Amino acid sequence: MKVRVLGAGAGGGYPQWNCNHPNSHRARGGDPAARPRTQSSIALSANGADWVLCNASPDLRQQIGDNPFLHPREGLRHSPIKAVVLTNADVDHIAGLLNLRESQPLRLYATERVLSVLEANSVFNVLNPAFVSREPMRLDEPLSILCPDGSPAGLVVTPFAVPGKVALWLEDESKGPDFGSVEEDTIALEVRDAAGVTRLFYVPACARMTDALAARLAGAELVLFDGTLWTDDEMIRSGTGVKTGRRMGHMSISGEDGTMAAFAPLGVRRKVFIHLNTTNPVLLDDSEERRAVTGQGWEVACDGMVLDG
Ligand code: MLT
Ligand code: MN
Repeated sequence: MKVRVLGAGAGGGYPQWNCNHPNSHRARGGDPAARPRTQSSIALSANGADWVLCNASPDLRQQIGDNPFLHPREGLRHSPIKAVVLTNADVDHIAGLLNLRESQPLRLYATERVLSVLEANSVFNVLNPAFVSREPMRLDEPLSILCPDGSPAGLVVTPFAVPGKVALWLEDESKGPDFGSVEEDTIALEVRDAAGVTRLFYVPACARMTDALAARLAGAELVLFDGTLWTDDEMIRSGTGVKTGRRMGHMSISGEDGTMAAFAPLGVRRKVFIHLNTTNPVLLDDSEERRAVTGQGWEVACDGMVLDG
């Protein structure tokens, strides 16, 4: 299966447009150890011709331009992008859908909850309903992803809920400390090939490790996991924000209850941090924190990364 990182950054990307944190400053200055990242998305393909996007970032137009396998190949109108699977309704995961307008056939997969968010925002009708079908995914039910012509894309996706919260722009403080979040707000994907072999887990947002999640991931070949922050209070301490990672629905990489510690006993063969916030020191090739994660067997995603297997 072909697995490509289109965008390794979190919401806002790296460098975020209004950020002058030293990380962002270095990236903007062209420092080769501080490579920019576009916003959160990966692309999967069983045959190298038909591609399925997992999330559609606001940078999708650039990502298509940067990745020739996503360019039109035939006739006057064509796209190798046959389907999009959404893991939540974050701006960084849905805004790119607006790039996919223009009556191009496509299947759009998401939970009923996330589909209802799109339904409630009529701007998404630019995805002409005559060409773009909206396909509900049920938690824990394996689903064969189909191309618009009904042929299988060769990927079987099992969506499952992970700890998280409703998208930032849908938070409702009147609904208590979880802002009215439900299970279907934040999902992860287990992706199998047509032969039923699990190829990867894609978990771009996760608020904490649970026993059930650890059991699912144990022994996996490849896991792409939420690497938003290095420490929970990173944005507060750096003066760039007022929220902790927990408040934003993201567990942090370091610390006793962090991601590195949680993965240590799981025996995952290839572990990749993705959805990296502009303040995260692991973004920098020459940081101590980068050395710490690579020392624990982790890789840090960058745009264009190839994880085929
Ligand atoms: C997140 O992952 O926390 C969100 O993408 C934040 C945002 O919408 O900016
Ligand atoms: Mn996000």
